[in-house]
Amino acid sequence: MAERANLNDPTAYQLALTDPEGWWSDWAKRLDWFEHWHKVLEWEKPYAKWFVGGKINACYNCVDRHVAAGKGDKVAWLAEGEPGDLRVFTYQDVLDEVQKVACAFASLGVQKGDRVCIYMGQGPELTLAMLACARIGAVHSVVFGGFSSDSLEERINDAGAKLIVTADGSWRNGKVVELKRIINEAIEKGCPTVNHVLVYERIGQPLAEGAAAYDRGTWHDGRDVWWHEVVGSTGTTYPCEPMDSEDLLFILYTSGSTGKPKGIMHTTGGYLTGTSATAHAIFDLKDEDIFWCTADCGWVTGHSYVVYGPMANGVTQVLYEGGPATPEKDRYWRIIERHKVSILYTAPTAIRTFMKWGDEYPQSCDLSSLRLLGSVGEPINPEAWMWYRDVIGSGRCPVVDTWWQTETGAIMITPLPGMTTTKPGSATRPFPGIYATIYDEEGQDLLEKHGLPVGGLLVLKRPWPSMLRGIWGDPDRYVKTYWSKFEDAYFAGDGAKMDEDGYFWLLGRVDDIMLVSGHNISTMEVESALVDHPAVAEAAVIGKAHDIKGQAISAFVILRAGNQPSPALEQEIKQHVAGKIGALARPDDLFVVGELPKTRSGKIMRRLLRDVAEGRALGDTTTLADPTVVRALREQYEDREG
Ligand code: WT7
Repeated sequence: MAERANLNDPTAYQLALTDPEGWWSDWAKRLDWFEHWHKVLEWEKPYAKWFVGGKINACYNCVDRHVAAGKGDKVAWLAEGEPGDLRVFTYQDVLDEVQKVACAFASLGVQKGDRVCIYMGQGPELTLAMLACARIGAVHSVVFGGFSSDSLEERINDAGAKLIVTADGSWRNGKVVELKRIINEAIEKGCPTVNHVLVYERIGQPLAEGAAAYDRGTWHDGRDVWWHEVVGSTGTTYPCEPMDSEDLLFILYTSGSTGKPKGIMHTTGGYLTGTSATAHAIFDLKDEDIFWCTADCGWVTGHSYVVYGPMANGVTQVLYEGGPATPEKDRYWRIIERHKVSILYTAPTAIRTFMKWGDEYPQSCDLSSLRLLGSVGEPINPEAWMWYRDVIGSGRCPVVDTWWQTETGAIMITPLPGMTTTKPGSATRPFPGIYATIYDEEGQDLLEKHGLPVGGLLVLKRPWPSMLRGIWGDPDRYVKTYWSKFEDAYFAGDGAKMDEDGYFWLLGRVDDIMLVSGHNISTMEVESALVDHPAVAEAAVIGKAHDIKGQAISAFVILRAGNQPSPALEQEIKQHVAGKIGALARPDDLFVVGELPKTRSGKIMRRLLRDVAEGRALGDTTTLADPTVVRALREQYEDREG
C-alpha cells in the first residue's frame, strides 16, 4: 500500500511547513485555470485571498476537462434511488445535462452572482443543480431536505434567493419527503426575492401500487416550473463563466451559538484547491476506484466530498438517495457489493447504528472490493473505530478519521493512508500545509509553552485555501465568532488534546453547539423553538451523551401558568420543535421542571443540566443563585428515569 499511495513522501509535512504557499500552489496547478494567478496569498487577518487574479470555473474542473481529456465515457455517477432504481451517468452525460440545466436556470433569469436555493433529495439532479450554478457563476445555497419550512424561509430570505430548485418529493426510509409542499409553505411565509420554483419530478404520480399517498403541493402557475419542461428545451450548450478565484461559489448555513444560522461563504479557486487536494491525498483516489461518500449534499461533506473534491479528480462515485435500513438493514452493504465500492466515507453515528444492528448484515455481503474507510462528523469512539476496521474492512483497509468543519471547507486533521500509523479514536495529524495547535483560554500556545502532551482548545494558525471567507450578510459575526477569542489564530470551537506523539484527539465542542448524529445544532436554536410553543415559559437544552447519535437533545422546560404536564403535551412540544427546525432537532427527552439552575447573573448553567442528565456527580455549584434548584431537579429526574 505505502509505495502505491498518491501521497507517500513523509517529507511533505516539512516541505509544506516551510513553504506553505509553494505547497498549495502545486496543488492548485493540478486544476485547469483560464488565467494564472499573480499572487498565491494575500493575508490581512482575518481576510484571506488565494490565487489572486486567477480565473477558474469549478464546473469546468469537475466535468468539462475530464471530457476534454478523453474520459467522457468514464462513469461519473452510479445513482441508486431508495426504491432500487439505478441511473448511470458518464462524464459526457454529466456535461450534456449540466449544460441543459444551466440553460434552464438562465431562462428563468439566473445570472452570475445570483443566489439559488436548492432543496432536494440526494441524487443526480441535486448535484447537477449545484454544478449548473457553478457553471453560470451563480451562488448555490443548498438546504438539507430534512429542514422545516420555517428553517427554509429563514435561509431563503437571508440569502435573497431568486430561484428555488426542488422536487415533488424524495424517498427516505420508505416514505416520501414532501419537498414541494414544504417549499410552498416556506414561500407563503413571505419570500419576496423568489421568482421561480423549478420542480424535478422524482416521485411521479400515480405512485406504485401500495405506496402511501403524498402531497405534492399546490401548483402556482407562472411561479412553478417543471424541470422536464425547461431542461433540454431552453438550450443544450452553455459555456463556463470564467470566475475570479475569489468569487463566491456557495453559501452553506450552519448553526451558530445564537439561534440564527450562519451563511458560511466559500469562494472558488482556494476551495477547489483544498477539496481536490485532500480528496486525492486522503482518499488516495485512483482511476479505477469506486468512491462512496454517504453524506447528503445538504451538508458540507456532500459539497466537498461528493461534488467538488471527487469530481475535480474525475472519479467514479455512488450517489444514494435514501436511508440505511430500506428495505433491509443491509442496504449499505448491498450497495457496496452491487457497485464494488472501493472507498467508503461515512459518519460515526452510522457506524454505531450498524454495530448495534449486528455483524450478520455486513457479513452476508461481499465487501472485498473495499480498500479504504473514512469517518467524519464527530469524534469516533475507539470501539466503533475497531469495529469499522475489522468488520467492514476485514482488518485490511486503512481507516482515516477526518476532522474538519463547514467553515474549513476541506479536511484539516487526518491520517494519510500511505504514511500514518493510526491509533483508534485519533484523527492523528494536520494535513500538510495546515498548522493546528492547542491554546489555553488565555490564548497561550500550550504546545510551545509546555511541549507534549497538551490539552485545551484547538486553533488553526495559518490561513488555508479552503477557509471560509466570511458569513453572508454579517461581516462582524465572522470576526467575532472565529477571530476574536484569540488574537493570532482561528478558533475552531473544539476541545482537543495532543498526545506524546503529537497526535490529535478531538474532544467535542466547547461552545453551545450540539453534535447530533454529526450535525451541528445550537442549544439556543432549539430553546427558541421550545419557547415558541404557547405552553412553554422557559427552556434550557443540552446535548446528552448518546450511544448512537453521539449527542441526543435533552430539553428542560418550565410551563406557563395554567398548563399541566402530561405525556401528550410533552409530545406536542417535541413535535413543535421538529416543525420549527426539522426532525433532526426533535428532543429525545423533555422534562417539565419547576425551575432551572441559574447563576446569580441569570445565566442558565447547562453544565449542571448535563451532569443531571448523564447521571454524574454535580460539578462546581458555587456560582448557583439557588443550589436547591438543581438538587430538586436531580430527584425529579431520577424518579422519572426510574
Ligand atoms: C464539527 C463541525 C466536517 C463535516 C461534518 C461536520 C465535529 C467533525 C470530526 C472528527 C471529531 C469532528 C467537530 C467540528 N467533527 N469531524 N473526525 N472528529 N469531531 O461539519 O457541521 O460544520 O461540524 O464537527 O466538533 O467542529 P460541521
